[in-house]
Amino acid sequence: MLRRTLLKKIGLGVSSLPFLTVEAGASPVLMEWKGRFTSDKEKDEDFWKEFRDQFYEVSGDFINLENGYFGVHPKPVHQAYVKNIEKVNRFSSQYMRTDYYKDVQKVVQGLASFSGINPEELLITRNATEALNILIQGLDLKKGDEVILHRQDYHSMIETFEMLARQKGIHLRYIRIPLIPESDEQIISLYREVSTPKTRCILLTHMIHLTGQIMPVKKIIDSFKPQGVDVIVDAAHSFAQLDFKLTDLGADFVGVNLHKWFSNPLGAGMLYVKKERIRDLKPLFGDVSKDENNIMKLGHFGTLATPNVLTIPISQTFNETVTLSLKEKRLRYLQNYWTREASSIPKVTVTTPTTPERSCALASFKIEGMEAKEVVKQLYDRFRVFTVIRQLEDEQVVRVTPNLYNHTGELEVLLEGIEKLAG
Ligand SMILES: Cc1ncc(COP(=O)(O)O)c(C=O)c1O
Repeated sequence: MLRRTLLKKIGLGVSSLPFLTVEAGASPVLMEWKGRFTSDKEKDEDFWKEFRDQFYEVSGDFINLENGYFGVHPKPVHQAYVKNIEKVNRFSSQYMRTDYYKDVQKVVQGLASFSGINPEELLITRNATEALNILIQGLDLKKGDEVILHRQDYHSMIETFEMLARQKGIHLRYIRIPLIPESDEQIISLYREVSTPKTRCILLTHMIHLTGQIMPVKKIIDSFKPQGVDVIVDAAHSFAQLDFKLTDLGADFVGVNLHKWFSNPLGAGMLYVKKERIRDLKPLFGDVSKDENNIMKLGHFGTLATPNVLTIPISQTFNETVTLSLKEKRLRYLQNYWTREASSIPKVTVTTPTTPERSCALASFKIEGMEAKEVVKQLYDRFRVFTVIRQLEDEQVVRVTPNLYNHTGELEVLLEGIEKLAG
């Protein structure tokens, strides 16, 4: 039998060629809504209810005010993700060994432009912890080097530094960040007070995950740059929640994740290293083949969750359609909506600074005479409001985090709950 006939017989044809789209315009609903997210929509509850119906499918069994863990991805992202899973599975290694390389380049280029950086300065990782470990362990800190950090930094990053302290004999100098700072200068002086000629590195969390406090990252970096201190910025919560480009931070090293506010499915992060600093990092995962200035030398961690990576452009289009400026405004409006009222309830203390430059979606509170554990339990059991306990240096608080799909009616339920519990 002729080969052509055989191919026909087993049913192979043009339709079985890989067809994976990473083109962002692939979502009709996003095209339809483009241009509707104007700056006057911040307080327009009808608009946001229509948006919720169109873009989200969340459980109606409870009110989710714990969106700090990860961001529920919107429907267009979910549909693209499912499609990408099906396609990768269908075309298998044939796709992975051919067109995937081109597709991932497009993903990286898009993400770099969204972040305001060059594609050669970006590495897609599995999460923020991986990106930040590549940085922390890559700096090759030596015995006697000093690092400044605080107990409200993310625990995994603290553990990485604690591990290096045991392994290499670096010294960790912890400062205490006030819950409600007086000024940026007060914060900077706390860092300056403990710095010495041996200070090599600062771990700086852009938005503190426990309370939502935003740190004056650029000012701290500018203050320490002249003495050559390397600042590693943990932007896990600020990326795509606040309207900024990574270069605005003035940082050489940044780690973020894409499954929180960027709203990509769980399991993606990003590492940024300023081009001329790549050579200063030692690979965490074995690599001897790449040039010392090539960021890929840091990315030898094996196969990524490909369907997830291919979904990044749709998540990006979602953020670009909503616009980061309106997203930031709306999230801050929701936070201010409940914190303003909660702080006027007797026995309730809001433990987040609520001025616009110091916080956005995340905020926390406590009730005098009631353990945070009990507040979280009762808010859920009695009012079906889901929140989470966060451990500060020496006390616990309740963290409340609305996302774009939440509305003020849900925050009214939260406030009713807080009022009843405090009373
Ligand atoms: C401030 C901060 N840094 C880092 C991380 C770790 O992120 P990932 O789970 O993507 O590694 C988190 C996660 O909640 C976080 O809040």
